[in-house]
Amino acid sequence: TKRVAVLISGRGSNMSALIAAAMDPSYPGRIVGVLSNRPDAKGLETAERYDIPAVAVDHKAYASREAHEAAVLEALERLNPDIICLAGYMRLLSPEFVRRFEGRMINIHPSLLPLFPGLDTHARALAAGMKLHGCTVHFVTERMDEGPIIAQAAIAVEADDTPDRLAERLLRAEHRLYPHALRLVLNGSVRMVNGRAVTASQTAGSNEDD
Ligand code: GAR
Repeated sequence: TKRVAVLISGRGSNMSALIAAAMDPSYPGRIVGVLSNRPDAKGLETAERYDIPAVAVDHKAYASREAHEAAVLEALERLNPDIICLAGYMRLLSPEFVRRFEGRMINIHPSLLPLFPGLDTHARALAAGMKLHGCTVHFVTERMDEGPIIAQAAIAVEADDTPDRLAERLLRAEHRLYPHALRLVLNGSVRMVNGRAVTASQTAGSNEDD
């Protein structure tokens, strides 16, 4: 079973969904550690309650972005992960960092990418008059929120939605999507090949994992 590390910055509800899913013995990975760039992230306490090693690498404690990232890298490599999941991790990662884990680092984003990369996705979907909203799990590449898509889920936008209501409903879809998408990557059903997400059926015959 593969080793999964999770990077967070706050609440960590997606991290919790991953931890819960991975507790099923038939799940093809286990969460071996959680890292946060914020020492006050609620998700750190949650991870500890599950007996998962959880550490803060406080970005404010480092003189530069580079120095912080080097410390994150060191803490991460100690966990020796096969796959890294960004779950509400709100720091940009350098191209070198991203390249080091190419095809092995995934992220969840609260929109139907390529629509609405960046922040305030719920308000922007409402302002655009979208009738559908959703979330995306994608491989992390050097261009933020632009990596190859592994899986998506959509929800209906309701007439009286506010950004908060929409975010809350979408979060429940995120909690179902992320464990599903991680499973696809862990068992080799989806891989990143030449900058694209390729499903096992597209590489039939070359996949021993299914
Ligand atoms: C989630 O909605 C996630 O999709 C979003 O932050 C939230 C984290 O919540 N991520 C991004 O906006 C990434 N740019 P959580 O800490 O409870 O999982």
